[in-house]
Amino acid sequence: MHNSPNEINSVEDAARKAESSTLFSPKFYRTDYEAMNRINIEPVRAEWDAMMAEYEGDNNHDHFQRDATFADEVHELMPKLTPELRQEFLDFLVSSLTSEFSGCVLYNEIRKHVENPDIKQLMTYMARDESRHAGFLNSALKDFGLGVDLGNLKRSKKYTYFKPKYIFYATYLSEKIGYARYIKIFRQLEQHPEKRFHPIFRWFQRWCNDEFRHGESFALIMRANPGLLKGGNLLWIRFFLLAVYATMYVRDHTRPELKQAMGLEPGEYDFEVFRITNEITKQVFPIMLDIHHPEFRAGLEQLFACTQKANAGREAGGIVGRVRQAYWATAGVLTFAKMYFLPVKSNALPEEVRMAPAW
Ligand SMILES: [Fe+2]
Ligand SMILES: [Fe+2]
Repeated sequence: MHNSPNEINSVEDAARKAESSTLFSPKFYRTDYEAMNRINIEPVRAEWDAMMAEYEGDNNHDHFQRDATFADEVHELMPKLTPELRQEFLDFLVSSLTSEFSGCVLYNEIRKHVENPDIKQLMTYMARDESRHAGFLNSALKDFGLGVDLGNLKRSKKYTYFKPKYIFYATYLSEKIGYARYIKIFRQLEQHPEKRFHPIFRWFQRWCNDEFRHGESFALIMRANPGLLKGGNLLWIRFFLLAVYATMYVRDHTRPELKQAMGLEPGEYDFEVFRITNEITKQVFPIMLDIHHPEFRAGLEQLFACTQKANAGREAGGIVGRVRQAYWATAGVLTFAKMYFLPVKSNALPEEVRMAPAW
């Protein structure tokens, strides 16, 4: 049987996918723990303490357990999936697992290496949450006989070094966009339960409230250190906004069946997620991308086309394939650069940082 390099049909395929480090696959991070020690959250102490009390209360402590009907639903629904949808769903499970586990590893490493009591306490709670999320996804993969050995993944995955400020921008955004993605799926399937092709989606609402709170934590850290939110750092914020939005767009369009099976059109879904994320990031970022600029959407479409063509070149192989891959990869970078210089919108930061997950 011919196996496409992207298909997941065995534990080895799942492990390889989780370990792979392409531009669009979830990464693992290391950072500067000494610099983390110097983070001061005093300017937001009251909001910080309220948030710590929420973590302490742990309202999701019993959430990540399967209920009585979970296994029945899996057995009833899975055979109905088309092979394409099944592959896209497995890809979704592996990439979600990898990014949840990435958070778990990073937060745990920071917890182990810092003395700063505020940061240590926060990281302990967030690592707890991400470990539950990763475990729940991995149990869904195990139903297919495709569980990922997380200890092995932690050892063999390539790590990217990020200064703390890059960790704050990137992780804040990925927590918040993660919230927006999950809540949109949950709301859609709440209205169209017949399109819920796997029970895991029933868990998304309380799940994404964890992600929302993780994002709140990084928002407070950045607001307590306002130097991170002005001057030259605005260029970094702009970069991370575009990188995170573009990555999501390309990934979602690479697996369109997944959204279509839920009755969602991938482009519309992504723009709704951008809109929600833009609303949320007003709590911390003084700028936001103008997602309604006509060249913004055109740029994303172009970026996706470049990625597809670069991938086709890589898969074709040989000198011609490699030249095609390099050509379209460069075209992708240039498109990204062009989008980076599109005008952005500015925004005055609110007095109170905390927000409710109201979507
Ligand atoms: Fe998570
Ligand atoms: Fe999270």
